[in-house]
Amino acid sequence: MATAVQTEEKKAPARVPASEWFVYLNGAYILRKDAMIHFSDAGFNLGDGIFDCLRTARHKPFKLQEHIDRFYRNLKYARIAPGLTPDEMTEICLTVLAKNIPFMAEHDDCWIFMRATRGSGERGPKRDFDWPYPLKQHPPTVMANCTPLNFPPMARLYREGRRLITSSIRAFPAECLEPRLKSLSRQHFMIACAEVEKEDPEAVPLLLDIHGNVAEPYGANIFFVRDGELMTPSPQLALEGISRQTTIDVAREQGIPVHEGNGYKPYDIYNADEAFVTMTSYGIVSVRSLDGVAIGRQCPGPMTMRLLRGFGAKMGIDLVAQAESHLS
Ligand SMILES: Cc1ncc(COP(=O)(O)O)c(C=O)c1O
Repeated sequence: MATAVQTEEKKAPARVPASEWFVYLNGAYILRKDAMIHFSDAGFNLGDGIFDCLRTARHKPFKLQEHIDRFYRNLKYARIAPGLTPDEMTEICLTVLAKNIPFMAEHDDCWIFMRATRGSGERGPKRDFDWPYPLKQHPPTVMANCTPLNFPPMARLYREGRRLITSSIRAFPAECLEPRLKSLSRQHFMIACAEVEKEDPEAVPLLLDIHGNVAEPYGANIFFVRDGELMTPSPQLALEGISRQTTIDVAREQGIPVHEGNGYKPYDIYNADEAFVTMTSYGIVSVRSLDGVAIGRQCPGPMTMRLLRGFGAKMGIDLVAQAESHLS
């Protein structure tokens, strides 16, 4: 009996619900359930804010510096002054992670989110009840939080691949919204998701640009393989994903040619040898089908698996094994 108890105790700590995890909000570390933003916040009212997110690998942040750099490039472009230096934001992300690590089991990992909005004049000392126009320097709203990664669906994705459906909603042309911007407003993506969900609740929309060129799926970048070479839409059409760059680095290190283009069509993906999507949480997941058309002869394909292993090696984990370990 004593042995059984000891074995139980040796196990990783019990999971604490995410509502009890710590978040950083405007200078304080508080419980997520107590974190409130003002109802007149620009993020809530206008979708006017920037975010970024990374994940941990064995409880260590992966590519934190790259995510901080992208966050600050985007804040600068959006003319949002977060009132914190990149080093201070890095420290906040590390502190919020350190506060939440005790809530994670050993084989768990988490997202780390950072967000900054143009804030709310009603929160400032001057009590400005006007809309948060860019040229007025309201106190920004800045937050950072951790969220547990949800591994069981990821394990299924690694095995079965992602189904994509071309959406009628198009990606913003760069003349309207810079594709590299990781803006809080995901409205067009959400409408695209709602549209696709009717057809296949587990599929994800693939957005084309206004000329019908492949841009990006919701929340991910896309690659396809043709004759041993990798193709991916350029950052003129899609977010400069950090996982996209990691994949390009892994491919080049393995001697695989990578092409970034602006003129790939769904036709190219239907006829690819393999296709896959990249994002922070899962790294690389194969595309099983686009619009119901099966991609390649095998899913996941051999190049996808090779790159996924290389991706995991950069993180110091076996991504598939970690996700699978959450199934039992
Ligand atoms: C529109 C869009 N494209 C691509 C990505 C993938 O980027 P990353 O690899 O940095 O997660 C994301 C991630 O959230 C995204 O929102």
